Amino acid sequence: MGLRVQMRNMNFMFLVFFSWAFSSATASVTYDHRAIVINGKRRILISGSIHYPRSTPEMWPDLIQKAKDGGLDVIQTYVFWNGHEPSEGKYYFENRYDLVKFIKLVHQAGLYVHLRIGPYICGEWNFGGFPVWLKYVPGIAFRTDNGPFKWHMQRFTEKIVNIMKAEGLFETQGGPIIMSQIENEYGPVEWEIGAPGKAYTKWAAQMAVGLNTGVPWVMCKQDDAPDPVIDACNGFYCENYKPNQVYKPKLWTEAWTGWYTEFGGPVPHRPAEDLAFAVARFIQNGGAFFNYYMYHGGTNFGRTAGGPFIATSYDYDAPLDEFGLPRDPKWGHLRDLHRAIKLAESALVSSDPTVTKLGNNQEAHVFRSNTGACAAFLANYDTNYDVKVSFGNGRYNLPPWSISILPDCKTAVYNTARLGAQSTVMWMTPVYKGFSWESYNEETASANSGDTTALDGLWEQVYVTRDNTDYLWYLTDITIGSDEGFLKTGNYPLLNIFSAGHALHVFVNGQLTGSAYGSLDKPKLTFTQNIKLRAGVNKLALLSVAVGLPNVGLHFETWNAGVLGPVTLNGLNTGTWDMSKWKWSYKIGLKGEKLGLHTVSGSSSVEWGQGSFLAKHQPLTWYKTTFNAPGGNGPLALDMNSMGKGQIWINGRSIGRHWPAYKASGGCGPCNYAGTFTDKKCRTDCGQPSQRWYHVPRSWLNPTGNLLVVFEEWGGDPNWINLDQRTTGTVCADIHEGQPTMENWGALGSGKVAVAKAHLWCPPGHKISQIKFASYGVPQGTCGNYRAGSCHAHKSYDVPQKNCVGQQSCTVIVAPQFFGGDPCPGVAKKLSLEAICS
Ligand code: GAL
Repeated sequence: MGLRVQMRNMNFMFLVFFSWAFSSATASVTYDHRAIVINGKRRILISGSIHYPRSTPEMWPDLIQKAKDGGLDVIQTYVFWNGHEPSEGKYYFENRYDLVKFIKLVHQAGLYVHLRIGPYICGEWNFGGFPVWLKYVPGIAFRTDNGPFKWHMQRFTEKIVNIMKAEGLFETQGGPIIMSQIENEYGPVEWEIGAPGKAYTKWAAQMAVGLNTGVPWVMCKQDDAPDPVIDACNGFYCENYKPNQVYKPKLWTEAWTGWYTEFGGPVPHRPAEDLAFAVARFIQNGGAFFNYYMYHGGTNFGRTAGGPFIATSYDYDAPLDEFGLPRDPKWGHLRDLHRAIKLAESALVSSDPTVTKLGNNQEAHVFRSNTGACAAFLANYDTNYDVKVSFGNGRYNLPPWSISILPDCKTAVYNTARLGAQSTVMWMTPVYKGFSWESYNEETASANSGDTTALDGLWEQVYVTRDNTDYLWYLTDITIGSDEGFLKTGNYPLLNIFSAGHALHVFVNGQLTGSAYGSLDKPKLTFTQNIKLRAGVNKLALLSVAVGLPNVGLHFETWNAGVLGPVTLNGLNTGTWDMSKWKWSYKIGLKGEKLGLHTVSGSSSVEWGQGSFLAKHQPLTWYKTTFNAPGGNGPLALDMNSMGKGQIWINGRSIGRHWPAYKASGGCGPCNYAGTFTDKKCRTDCGQPSQRWYHVPRSWLNPTGNLLVVFEEWGGDPNWINLDQRTTGTVCADIHEGQPTMENWGALGSGKVAVAKAHLWCPPGHKISQIKFASYGVPQGTCGNYRAGSCHAHKSYDVPQKNCVGQQSCTVIVAPQFFGGDPCPGVAKKLSLEAICS
């Protein structure tokens, strides 16, 4: 054992000399086996993804500050090509796409940037970040050894690098960018396509390195990333990841903090304890850099959601919620983890870990520097049992599936399964009810009318729309002879429609007869229904609706959308008619879109109905109202529970697609943090809308007269739409006696372990008005549904009430003398508290 460790350390010392040098001595970013090296100093870097177009520039400073307060060193973002080059050669870097401003704000806050240029970015973003026009470049094939693709990819990558250089944003120029990324998770694609994939990988790496940014490049999920590009891991766990060369550090570019929501799917959650455990596992195995994907997920405004079927909210169960508020306990628990890691940093960067067994399923990982620093991680991988382990001269209690961090090899300051941070339950409180709505009926399009184009057969939707709108009408006339048998029997013909997706509304003679839609896993759909036809000409109008373009999959640029057929009508005198080859008329987009009904000027160009003329539960209806901004500065969202499917605009800006009528299915269940996490574990909201609330950025509102426009496809009742404010409802603490705490660090030297304390706080301007629950003993449940257990101190409420009510923050010591004595000696106890902030 001793020899093995010694050998390893020698090996390590040897490697230290062979680091990649990228630039001058003044400002440099290099790496070696152990870490990213900034200006000659090895660092353990803590990073989090914040995607600039998924929030507003007004939100950026606060998000970045909260990331800094949460203990982050680095902000990671993708670069969103289709936002920056919406049509070929026409660039856009304003507003939510002001990349330079975003990076400068990060710099001002004193944080670094990891810039993932891609330009393929996946990210549940429309078309994986590619502009749709790119698909129609002659001879192109995406993400392979293809001339036109490589030309455009290089052109855009250069464009971004040149902007960064011109602004002096690379670390070597005194800026914050310490790393970039080329491509994204290309390894699996390369594996499938073979030789051209390998050639493309080599080309991409060389092209990127040739841009001389002065800072390292990363390729994630790319086992064969060519030197000097560093390969990196993405996943829920990455502790066993090994870079492809020993002289590269171990990077985790995406530590998934939760998962995305899809329309029709439940809402994913990842327990803070498991996320902290995964990160601690990565660090104890020699990890050098990890990035939370996402730290703030935000919102897929407009039509930026990919998928198809990715929801408008990209909350991701991230440490900062969609609205930019801390999600606790996750945010606070990770902040504490980061403090513990930073206390250990000097030992961590000095060696590889020495691993020893502490039990069947328990290990110690120890790091030492030659100046005497020592840090230990004590791990219990068992999913069921608490285990007491001996380490050094101490005894340490390790809850199931947890790691304790001892930054000095003696004092446990943090355990991944013991929350020191408070939990909060957020409420959506109505601040504006009873909008006074007006409605306008979108007309059903009809074949051969002036504004349509007739074509033979069925055409692919994106080819026709170029994704300038979600909507494409497929229109034809069905002429029924007066001798058709069904006219007498009433056995109406059966209409069969096969569509490549994503949703379809079928109108016969102007009436909606039915709708069909797919899902993320199965975007294709079929529509089968008997339709009422009359003798003579019947108008068939199919409104095909796209719900975001695919963002991942082999050659996803070739996947189709729209009614591609066959379309058949069955049960006629001559049997079945195949309508697929008929002449169809096409109309791109809605009339209301053309009129700009979502804008102030457009909305005043038509007559709207109100009062008794207000359309309710009618398909294809536009609604508008005006309202004054509510007071306060809390985040706002529209409660769309009473609506079906469509889009929403505030003052002409699209806040995204709404689809509360798509209810979540797929399985929800109880959630235990212990055990391997998957995106199917810990989901909520089954049977409920996948997304009920839609973020309205404060900065999009004027003090008075805001125009709110909703386009509704299915039919709904707008009178129940509310504007809600997100507020902190209740706050909870769940503190075990003797649990590791940062306060132990202060007690160092005295040989004592600090007594555990419960801390509660309300946001600024709010106070604790009531203690809703308090139990010292063995209380059960989680924040929002605690109950007393078999052991409960009857004086549990006294101290919390005295210390907390009327205060913005308070502390309660978790020890028997504060609760009228020990209610069950010999039993491990904790204090659970729930308080209301008002
Ligand atoms: C990763 C991908 C990210 C994102 C994530 C899921 O594989 O790199 O862009 O799509 O999956 O949220």
